[in-house]
Amino acid sequence: MPPATAVVVGLGKIGLPLAVQYARHGWYVIGCDVNPDVVEQINAGRSHIHEEPGLEEAVAQLVQEGRLRATSDTTAAVRQARAVVVIVPVLMDEAHRANLTALEAATRSIGRGLQPETLVLYETTLPVGTTAHHLAPLLESESGLQAGSDFWLAYSPERVSSGTIFRDLRLYPKVVGGFNPPSTEAAVAFYRSVLDTSEIIVMPSTDDAEFVKLIETTYRDVNIALANEFARFADAHGLDVQAAIAAANSQPYSHIHTPSVGVGGHCIPVYPYFLLAGAEAVTEQVDGFAPLLQLPRQARAINDSMATYAVRRLEMALGSLRGQTVLILGIAYRGDVRELAFSSAALLRTALEKRGAHVLADDPLFSSEEIRAAGYTPFSPSEAAAVRAIILQAAHTAYRSFDFRPFSHCQVVLDGRQALQRSAIEALGMRYLAIGDGSPGRSRQRQLAAFRRREATASSQETAATTRHRPKSAH
Ligand SMILES: NC(=O)c1ccc[n+]([C@@H]2O[C@H](COP(=O)([O-])OP(=O)(O)OC[C@H]3O[C@@H](n4cnc5c(N)ncnc54)[C@H](O)[C@@H]3O)[C@@H](O)[C@H]2O)c1
Repeated sequence: MPPATAVVVGLGKIGLPLAVQYARHGWYVIGCDVNPDVVEQINAGRSHIHEEPGLEEAVAQLVQEGRLRATSDTTAAVRQARAVVVIVPVLMDEAHRANLTALEAATRSIGRGLQPETLVLYETTLPVGTTAHHLAPLLESESGLQAGSDFWLAYSPERVSSGTIFRDLRLYPKVVGGFNPPSTEAAVAFYRSVLDTSEIIVMPSTDDAEFVKLIETTYRDVNIALANEFARFADAHGLDVQAAIAAANSQPYSHIHTPSVGVGGHCIPVYPYFLLAGAEAVTEQVDGFAPLLQLPRQARAINDSMATYAVRRLEMALGSLRGQTVLILGIAYRGDVRELAFSSAALLRTALEKRGAHVLADDPLFSSEEIRAAGYTPFSPSEAAAVRAIILQAAHTAYRSFDFRPFSHCQVVLDGRQALQRSAIEALGMRYLAIGDGSPGRSRQRQLAAFRRREATASSQETAATTRHRPKSAH
């Protein structure tokens, strides 16, 4: 019997590794993408994703063996499918609303080819209610079939991270919620056939499964915001937040994350807004209780303010930044990832420019043209002597051995990810700063102590003078 066909819609950083995973587990896989270059490259046995260890070799082998191919005709591919996995992006617009355009287009194409008894699985991160109340009716109207009786429908959040996808697929339990019990059963059977993990967590509904990914990412955003609040407290009081967090986390119930110059990427700064949209949709509060999700809302604002806070720290150390050249190390949203989505580098650039600084940017994962296209002025080594301050924004491995010696006029290095070697920087006569290192508090304490010493000296001198000039007592 020929292998059953699984279709993966969206062959990006996540979809292509998923297609490989399913093909390795005995399915014949057709990958669908609207980008003709992606389709062409895959059919030639080449992966357009280079960051995933083992992916390029696997694509070459599976295409050659006839177990994986790509097409831009999603409808035709779905006609042959027993299972369809959808992993096209949902983006966020400027008003922080989910933009479902790509997902709706993919859903319409799927609906037009949908056959009875096919399983449709959405894995893209979605606002609560999207699968059951928005996508199911779209599939039904395009196909003329009923979800839950003619075809099976389920939601399963994709929780892997790009760069470690095959490892994560082995390690992380799979969370699944079906449109109805037969849909859940079909989804669990599919995942048992393609995953190495034996743990599948069944949620009561597609809404519940959507909720899981949103709270997972929002928890991390709120945790980081709390760490950032602790860091600012440490700065104010002359304490070392990094040492305090390490000590606190030695207790098994404490999992405080790391303070930093900000939170970037497609997930953590985005999905709290998907959750917040759900909160805004609730018009009636239980017993008139306080508005929903105040903490996540505040956490977003705190994390986005950290770039300005970092610049303020720089200003406290250097004085006015007007006309000063500041170099940002790393425009990617995090270390060793070639992605710019919601990078804190952009917030840093804006905060620096607002203060009149001349901002340069470096990133070993991007060419000068790409850095310029992203809206930054690329740093060239000939400008090193003009740089007065450096901010590490993305902790790329390459920056661990960064050569600070050519920066002969650099006075301050602000380590925004607690990733640099303080001693190496200080050995060059530069000041090392980290968020939450307590130096503003300590310098205030020193100033206060010096002021108190001066006051004490002045008052003892005054007492001595008064004693000298006091008239002798009469007796
Ligand atoms: N990137 C991550 O680290 C990550 C981690 C976990 C989950 N996710 C989830 O995966 C989703 C996809 O992320 P990604 O990083 O793979 O995105 P990506 O941008 O790398 O790839 C998306 C692909 O979908 C294709 N596409 C867009 N519209 C389409 C359509 N109508 N039909 C077919 N293909 C279409 C694009 O051409 C692109 O190749 C995210 O929105 C997120 O919900 C991503």
